[in-house]
Amino acid sequence: MTFSLDQFRLDGKVAVVTGAGGRGRSIGRAYALGLASAGAAVVVADRDGAGAERVAGEVEAAGGRALPVAVDVADPASVAALAERVRAAFGGVDILVNNAALMVEVAGDDLLEMPLERWQRLFEVNLTGALLCVRALVASMRERGGGRIVNQVSGGAFPALSAYGVSKLALVGLTTALAKRLGPDGITVNAIAPGNVTSDAGRALVPDDSPFLQLLRAMVAARPRGEPEELVGPLLLLCSPAGGWITGQVLHVDGGWVMRP
Ligand SMILES: NC(=O)c1ccc[n+]([C@@H]2O[C@H](COP(=O)([O-])OP(=O)(O)OC[C@H]3O[C@@H](n4cnc5c(N)ncnc54)[C@H](O)[C@@H]3O)[C@@H](O)[C@H]2O)c1
Repeated sequence: MTFSLDQFRLDGKVAVVTGAGGRGRSIGRAYALGLASAGAAVVVADRDGAGAERVAGEVEAAGGRALPVAVDVADPASVAALAERVRAAFGGVDILVNNAALMVEVAGDDLLEMPLERWQRLFEVNLTGALLCVRALVASMRERGGGRIVNQVSGGAFPALSAYGVSKLALVGLTTALAKRLGPDGITVNAIAPGNVTSDAGRALVPDDSPFLQLLRAMVAARPRGEPEELVGPLLLLCSPAGGWITGQVLHVDGGWVMRP
């Protein structure tokens, strides 16, 4: 076996990115544009259908192929419809990026006080939503001889100090369990744990003058904040043939905030 930079290419592959169509400068948008620039056809899936169309338009304007789909990842019927749309448009799927989540929406929620319905919705979207997407798309990956699944977790799960952190740590558990379950099918399952990212949601969560950003400045080895596009290279490693022997891992992309020797 010889190594070639072409092993980072995704020509002929089909990728589904959930949460790729929401507000402004999101991480999912950067993922969709990045996967398309590597050659993949990209399904821009989001609960915000108009946002999905906007991002799919950006992918196509950059010379890529994209399909916008409105989906609620927490709704099994909606996810089944997504899988049908993908099959009809592209014949199947090779890559699933479970990026959709509630984050800024639950930022102030107290573990002891938050209404149980909010806790349950948080887990339905951030955890069960990822499992539903895997269940709906894994048959197609198997038919195509393998696949790649990347779950978007968070440095905020190491350790978990909030309801959101608990949901993301649970998604780490789903990552390792699915890696074991799907390894024999040639499907790798990994997670990316970003630090504070300057998406619109990330800036709303951690404003420029927030005490938490001061804390990060003191703690983090390198830069305390990254741009959405700085997550794209790590994603391409985990989604491409170059990363084919990596599974069950959490890749921390955070300037050295969470260090795990
Ligand atoms: N921004 C950060 O600093 C940061 C840090 C660590 C991890 N993350 C994670 O990165 C991912 C993207 O974050 P972002 O900053 O772009 O935030 P964001 O809020 O812009 O992105 C989340 C997306 O998920 C979509 N979504 C929410 N519920 C959905 C549902 N039920 N079905 C389908 N789509 C749904 C939203 O419409 C939105 O487009 C999230 O998983 C988040 O937890 C972000």
